Amino acid sequence: MSERHDFYRHIHKGLRLGGARLLVRLGQADWAQPAASAELLADLRGHLALARKHLEHEDAEINVIMRTKALDLGLRLDHDHADHFAAFGRLEAAIKATEQAAGIERERAGHRLYLAFSRHVGEDLLHMAREEEEAMPVFQARYDDGELQAIENRIKGSIPLDELIAYFRLILPGCAPAERVALLADIRAGAPAEVYAIVEAQAARVALDDGEWRALQAGLAQLPAAA
Ligand SMILES: [Fe+2]
Repeated sequence: MSERHDFYRHIHKGLRLGGARLLVRLGQADWAQPAASAELLADLRGHLALARKHLEHEDAEINVIMRTKALDLGLRLDHDHADHFAAFGRLEAAIKATEQAAGIERERAGHRLYLAFSRHVGEDLLHMAREEEEAMPVFQARYDDGELQAIENRIKGSIPLDELIAYFRLILPGCAPAERVALLADIRAGAPAEVYAIVEAQAARVALDDGEWRALQAGLAQLPAAA
């Protein structure tokens, strides 16, 4: 475990959880059930929108720096992102094709969508590991933890609250119990009380099961309360 600040760690855990859950659901989908499969496609669109915005955040605040510090790696990350943006276009076309098909053609289209998404998840897993294993050490060698935290804070500060909640609904269940406590404590210490209350009620309480929620509350109770 890295002792240094790592701005990829928690969001990537959340995105991996979201992608993995959807991949399983797409494999299990009964495309003959219109309501259930419409909900699944809506959830997939929502996930892909979050994934797209995540890449845009990285482009704006992280990759722009990487190109000045390690050009080859920066270009490699740009290339990965360009491939992802192209994949998002193909996936949206596959979603539409599934929505518009009926009967056996809908099942075939749904399976093609499943395979396309599996390919995207695989490529995204490799990409995110590259960022954490190769890019993060470059940043850690050149910036102290306060500077790395400032980069992360600029990204978080640019995200509208409803979108932030959607990310935390993935990040919190995707992270370890101690990480959840640290993440919530950080928001409690740094954000307005009403923002903390919304994140707690609409992300933590919704996304964690009862045992995870109680463990989170117990962990937070052991820390100093917000000022
Ligand atoms: Fe990335």
